Amino acid sequence: MSNPSLLILAGDGIGPEVMDEVKRIIDWYGDKRGLKFDVSEDLVGGSAYDKHGTPLHDDTMAKAQEVDAVLLGAVGGPKYDNLDFSVKPERGLLRLRKEMDLFSNLRPAQCFDALADFSSLKRDVVAGLDIVIVRELTSGIYFGEPRGIINEGNERVGINTQRYTESEIARVARSAFELARRRDNRVCSMEKANVMESGVLWREVVQEIHDAEYPDVELTHMYADAGAMQLCRWPKQFDVIVTDNLFGDMLSDMAAMLTGSLGMLPSASLGLPMDNGRPKAMYEPVHGSAPDIAGQGKANPIACILSLAMALRYSFDQGDEATRIENAIEKVLADGLRTADLLGEEGVTPVSTTEMGDAILAALDASL
Ligand code: IPM
Ligand code: MG
Repeated sequence: MSNPSLLILAGDGIGPEVMDEVKRIIDWYGDKRGLKFDVSEDLVGGSAYDKHGTPLHDDTMAKAQEVDAVLLGAVGGPKYDNLDFSVKPERGLLRLRKEMDLFSNLRPAQCFDALADFSSLKRDVVAGLDIVIVRELTSGIYFGEPRGIINEGNERVGINTQRYTESEIARVARSAFELARRRDNRVCSMEKANVMESGVLWREVVQEIHDAEYPDVELTHMYADAGAMQLCRWPKQFDVIVTDNLFGDMLSDMAAMLTGSLGMLPSASLGLPMDNGRPKAMYEPVHGSAPDIAGQGKANPIACILSLAMALRYSFDQGDEATRIENAIEKVLADGLRTADLLGEEGVTPVSTTEMGDAILAALDASL
């Protein structure tokens, strides 16, 4: 049997430096756990644009379709701000999501105990937090037509369209219910059924799928604005939240911050099963390319490393190894090591990106 294959697209800004730490952990698995991957690398985002004039070359897209999983760093940067919309770095990411049909985006927000005081919320509100936002990722206002900026009379009009089919809602709802069954068995669905027809349909279809296929799971519905408020007020009331592409984008940034830093949050984007039974999959940190700190050894590699852990869990059936990584990170944080995004408390030890990687590798060694 050949090794499972990984395509690394490190991207822009801090993407390559956090991905360097992930590569060391992949090597560690090959050396110490006999878990070897065939790793290839390619460009995405601004770095791809610089070389090919497009944020995602067709050959890279084809490779992404073939591998068992894609690991992505981050895309974007001020250098590309004035590019035409069609070749902006973000379009590379959106093309991967769309063409791989990665409709279910899992964004866990877990608060490591050592960071509970670092959150902008009170300790008891966030300590022990463990929720997952399931964001629909291939439809909605991100992709709906018509879109564009048109002239109307003597002014311009910007247009985007929120559009959801029943089957698009049904499949992401199923993935949320499936996930809930492996957790605390509760799903809260969020939309704006009070003002949007797409929200009315969303609510109906989620309820229908629930009643027909997942009656054992507890289902509640919430308007997305109230959901945002509840996420700050008492986030531990949630287990799995399922929501559309745009609300999911916003609610997941907010949930991420509950845990102290965007530098901590991984994500998995999953599609339909491939011939080998594994889902089409891409794993990426929730944080962006952070161009302001790129290349200075300040970036926190934990979100990207936790994304590798999600790959082990969801693509490669190695849940125990995912837990091993999570425990190693827990240990390093408990020991007081902090990258620049997590500084501010008394008595912690500031470390660089690579030193954080060193410490996590040492904790992995110690776990054997
Ligand atoms: C995210 C990001 C992306 C999005 C950007 C980079 C296109 O914010 O993954 O949350 O809006 O989906
Ligand atoms: Mg976002």
